[in-house]
Amino acid sequence: MSHFIDFEPLGRRGTCPPASTLLDCVRLLGVGLVSLCGGFGECGRCVVQVVTGEFPEPQPEERNFLLPSVLAQGYRSACRTTPAAIAGCGCRWSR
Ligand code: FES
Repeated sequence: MSHFIDFEPLGRRGTCPPASTLLDCVRLLGVGLVSLCGGFGECGRCVVQVVTGEFPEPQPEERNFLLPSVLAQGYRSACRTTPAAIAGCGCRWSR
């Protein structure tokens, strides 16, 4: 299933292919998010806040950079996160 992603406050939105990570969507939609490690979950620079949608549980690499209280607020590593159960989500980008 494709995913409709809305990156605010940039106003960048569009549909991303099935199995895309949020980082894939960032690149596809031209959002200027830093990815020093190339998307391997090693730099902790690709953090976005997911405000709507459903996502799988955080991966171990995300827990290296994001405290449980931060994860609870919806912050996720874009390179480690794939939208799961529904086709749409919104992400807040703040760098
Ligand atoms: S791009 Fe480096 S942790 Fe996501």
